[in-house]
Order: sequence, then structure tokens, then C-alpha cells
Amino acid sequence: MTAIGRDNKLYILCDSPRSLLEKYTIKIKVIEMKMYLMTPGPTPVAPETQLAMAQPVIHHRSPQFMEILGQVREDLKYLFQTEQEVLIFCATGTGAMEGAVANTLSAGDTALVVDGGKFGERWTELCTVYGVKVERLAVEWGHAVAPQMVARMLDANPAIKAVLVQANETSTGVAHPVQELAAVTRTRPGTILVVDAISALGGYPLPMDAWAIDLLVAGSQKAMMLPPGLAFAALSPKAWELAKASNLPKYYFDFAKQLKSQAKNQTPYTSPVSMIMGLEEVLGKIRRLGLERIFAHNRRLSLATKAAMQAMGLKLYSKDNPSDVLTAVESPVDGQKVVAELRKKGIWIAGGQAQAKGKIFRIAHMGFIDTVDLLGTIGGLEEVLNQLGFRVEPGVGLKAAQEILSKEAAV
Ligand SMILES: Cc1ncc(COP(=O)(O)O)c(C=O)c1O
Repeated sequence: MTAIGRDNKLYILCDSPRSLLEKYTIKIKVIEMKMYLMTPGPTPVAPETQLAMAQPVIHHRSPQFMEILGQVREDLKYLFQTEQEVLIFCATGTGAMEGAVANTLSAGDTALVVDGGKFGERWTELCTVYGVKVERLAVEWGHAVAPQMVARMLDANPAIKAVLVQANETSTGVAHPVQELAAVTRTRPGTILVVDAISALGGYPLPMDAWAIDLLVAGSQKAMMLPPGLAFAALSPKAWELAKASNLPKYYFDFAKQLKSQAKNQTPYTSPVSMIMGLEEVLGKIRRLGLERIFAHNRRLSLATKAAMQAMGLKLYSKDNPSDVLTAVESPVDGQKVVAELRKKGIWIAGGQAQAKGKIFRIAHMGFIDTVDLLGTIGGLEEVLNQLGFRVEPGVGLKAAQEILSKEAAV
């Protein structure tokens, strides 16, 4: 290591050979250990997407960039299954959630929050920060909301302007019944349905226009197969009407400003150029493959994972509507230890959050994850559970998964 002294001379600082060796060894480990991202974000990014993002940075006001953004705007409509403009922000998904609240509601308005996990809680936190009153519909973790309950609450309080919900509640692995919820809000002219699909969009069907979802929020680092850093929001005409009346403060996440700029193939501020290049590549692939094939792929992996867990004597944590993008499992031993031991093998799954911490673990199967990644994870899990004292016959989970994989045609 070198350093410049106060006398402006260059000094060579010597570490002991031992500490140098330690530093070197740690570095090598990080580089050599393949990281299998089986977490519900971030998820793996395909080499061709990485290469697209490694292209030279171009100026965000250049005609070349505007052409890319034009293509991306079209392809996003395909992914969201909407005719509406999909707004693109340089943020993680929470940024678009915040924008959804700040742009459609006004101070003193009431929102109905479906709170069935960690991300449902986030809607309440956001509303509270912005002075929006919350009617909280608490759903036991591991369960899906009953649409009739939402309908009843809306009947009892017609002043509710928005229903805020997750498509896939990532902390519990439950898919809330978005289509049925949209059927409840579509007939109520003063109420919009806002869906956080950060871990769901591109993972399983959520056709925005066909189902009448009013505001759909997504993030780049899950089923969209990109690194973290982009957030998206699309609004129905009904949501844009509410947006006109909204008086909450907003600046970067000003949806109307973003819409105006995107119409000119621009963003109001510096565009995340490299991420948009990756997005163009990914969306092109999604279009070529077709959403149906991608959904079928995730479903196949999901069925195989769930069958493997059950064959290993484990129970799913998601009691209703277990989602196709994620499997949440009741852990027979400390779930945090399962996660930690698997990490030593390079396999990254997620533990439980808040009240589920230590009680569950979660395996994602969305985006650029294949059968080899999945079988490796199941095999690793069998080993780790045995190591932690829970007896699993080696291969029993793998066998169950393979049976499903051989029955369900590869897509
Ligand atoms: C359903 C859901 N909502 C919101 C978020 C928060 O997204 P971000 O961390 O990208 O801000 C996540 C992230 O895991 C999520 O899964």
C-alpha cells in the first residue's frame, strides 16, 4: 500500500505478510464463490443483460438514447399489459410506492390498507408520513385477504379513495387475489386499486387493463431480471383523475411531470442510461419468449419447490394462495441458521422478517432462475437441515422436485 506524506513524498507502507495473505484470501473467496441468488430480490441477471449494461454510456439527451427509451416505453406496455404509459424512476420499488401515495391522494384522505405482512405495513407507514388516514385491514401472516372484507369496508366507508395491497406479499409468499379485488373497486368510481407488484410483475399474470388495476407498481430486481435501481408505475385513467386533484407534496416522484417528459422520449432528470440499456435487452427477451411461457416456467419451478418441501416433511408458511414466484416454508430448526449455512455453500435464500424471523425461510423461483439452480438449492437444503439436526432422507426432496419437473413440460 502507498501513501503521500505531509512532506509530499511517496511512502510504501508494509503490511505484515500474514495480514496481506488474509486480505488476499478474503478477496479470492468473494470472487471465486459463485453466488446463487435464490432470494426474492435481487435475482440473477443474465450475461447478455450484463453485457447490454456494459455498453459505453451515452448522453441521456442524445437521439440514440431517445430511440432506446421509445422502444422501452412500448415494451413496458407489453409487460404491464396496458395501453397506459409506464413511468420509469431511478429508485428501488419503494420509491414508486411512495409516488403512488403522494400522487393520487390528498392530505386527510382515507386509504384502505391490506396489511398481511411486512410490505403491507409499508403502505401504512407511507400513508402516515403523508398525512393520509389509514383503515387497516389486518390479515394474518400466511393468509390472503378476503375480497368480501374489502367490499364490506368500502360499503361502510364510501369516502375511502384507494385500496392499497401487494400482489405477492413477499414476506409470507402469499399472492393476494388481485383480480377479485379489482372487481370490487372497478364498480366504485371514487376508489382506486393500487397494487404493489414489485415481486410479482413478470412472474405471474397481472393484466393491468383487463383486470382494471388502477395503479400498478413494479421494481427491476425481481422477476424483471435486472439489478436493483429502477421502479415503475402505471396509472389507469381513473387513477390519473385522482392524481389531478392530489395536493400532497412531490418533487422527484411527480407522476404528471414524468408522464410529460416520457412522451418526448425523455426523463425529467438524468436518465439511468446503463440500466435502461439493460431494460431494453430484458424487455426484448420477454417479448420474444412471451409472457405466457415465462409464467409457465415460474409455475413449473414453483410446483417443484413446493413438492420438494412437502416431501422433506416441511410445511408451507403460505396457507392460502401460495405464490408462483416464491416458496415460504416453516422451518423445523432456526430459520436464520438454515439461511446462514446455505450461504456458506454459495446458495442465498431469504429468512423470515419481523414476526416470522427465525421461523421460516423463503426460496425464490422467478426471473433468470432455472432447474439446475433449483435442484442445487433443494439438495443443499437437505444437507443443511440434516446438519442442523432435522432428519431428511437425502434425495427425497430432489426426487419429488424431479418428478414434477419431468411431468410438467419445460418451457
Ligand atoms: C412486495 C414488495 N414490496 C416492496 C418491496 C420494497 O422494494 P425495494 O426494496 O425495491 O424498495 C419489496 C422488496 O422486497 C417487495 O417484495
